[in-house]
Order: sequence, then C-alpha cells, then structure tokens
Amino acid sequence: MRIQSFTLDHLEEVFSLWQRAGLKLSRSDTPLGIQRKLERDGELFLIALTDDDRIAGAVMGSYDGRRGWVNHLAVDPACQGQDLGTRLMQELEQRLGLLGCDKINLLIEPENSRVQSFYGKLGFKRDELIFMEKWIQPAQNRPKGV
Ligand SMILES: CC(C)(COP(=O)(O)OP(=O)(O)OC[C@H]1O[C@@H](n2cnc3c(N)ncnc32)[C@H](O)[C@@H]1OP(=O)(O)O)[C@@H](O)C(=O)NCCC(=O)NCCS
Repeated sequence: MRIQSFTLDHLEEVFSLWQRAGLKLSRSDTPLGIQRKLERDGELFLIALTDDDRIAGAVMGSYDGRRGWVNHLAVDPACQGQDLGTRLMQELEQRLGLLGCDKINLLIEPENSRVQSFYGKLGFKRDELIFMEKWIQPAQNRPKGV
C-alpha cells in the first residue's frame, strides 16, 4: 500500500470510495469543485493505493494559510482496521506541518460520533464549538450585475 497525491484520473474511483464508506457528499463535490481545490493545495488531497493500483483510502486535506482542515477521510470498508486511515492522517499532518500549519481542525457528523476515538488516538481533542455555515452563490454562477 502506498500513499500519494490525488490526481483527476482518480476522480471516479474516489467518489465511489466515499460513497461505499458512507460519507455525506455535498454540492461542492463535483468534478469542477475538486479541480478548483487541486489548483489551490492539491498536494494535501491524498490517496492510498493498493499494489495493483486500486484506491483503498482517501483524505481531502486543505490549508487556508492559518488552519489545516481534514475533509472526507475514508478507507474502503474491505481495508478498514489495517492502519490505512492512520497512515493517511499522519502523511497529511506531515505535509501540513511542512506548510507552516500549527493546528488542524475537522468536523464529525453527529451520527458518526463513534469515530471520535479514531481521531483521539491521533491526538485530536474535542472542542465544544457551535458550527455555523452558509451556502452562497459563487460569482461566476450569478447573472450579470447581481
Ligand atoms: C474512520 C476510518 C477512516 C478509519 O480508517 P481505518 O483504516 O479503518 O483506521 P485504522 O486501521 O488506522 O484504525 C486505527 C484505530 O482507530 C479505530 N477506529 C477505526 N475506525 C473507527 C471508527 N469508525 N470508530 C471508532 N474507532 C475506529 C480502530 O479500531 C483502531 O483502533 P486500535 O488501534 O485500538 O485497534 C474508517 O473507519 C472509515 O473510512 N470510516 C467511514 C468513513 C468515516 O467515518 N470517515 C470519517 C469522517 S469524519
């Protein structure tokens, strides 16, 4: 098993993995959305490949210049429990550190709260914050003048 950066060739396989692993995808998870993400910090989007080049795991990390973020970590259900999730997170942490990042954040869906123990083993601590969000219309999708 090896870990490397994601490229667009892996797009379909990664979407399929995320679905098999039961992740909730959002309207940002489109080929265009992923392409934009890759232009910004593509080296933080990691995949784990089997010896025969199948995708067994993925994590979409990002860095906003202040904080690192972990999104859509998933390991193929057939490969879970073999340390892959841990290895993906360690590699992401190392790459974020090289960029100067000193804090990594992540969010967990309430119905997936059991996964806290996985992150806890990696040194993450729970913080009682209220998460708020707002979906906006990207400028390039708006009618002219709005
Ligand atoms: C969470 C996930 C990525 C972990 O990957 P993995 O390769 O199975 O994890 P590892 O083998 O590195 O596990 C390391 C430890 O975490 C524990 N662990 C792994 N997944 C867990 C889970 N869902 N809940 C609780 N503990 C978990 C393991 O039991 C193991 O503990 P141990 O060392 O005491 O035996 C994987 O279970 C997964 O893809 N889950 C579905 C998608 C998901 O929930 N993603 C996270 C979104 S926030």
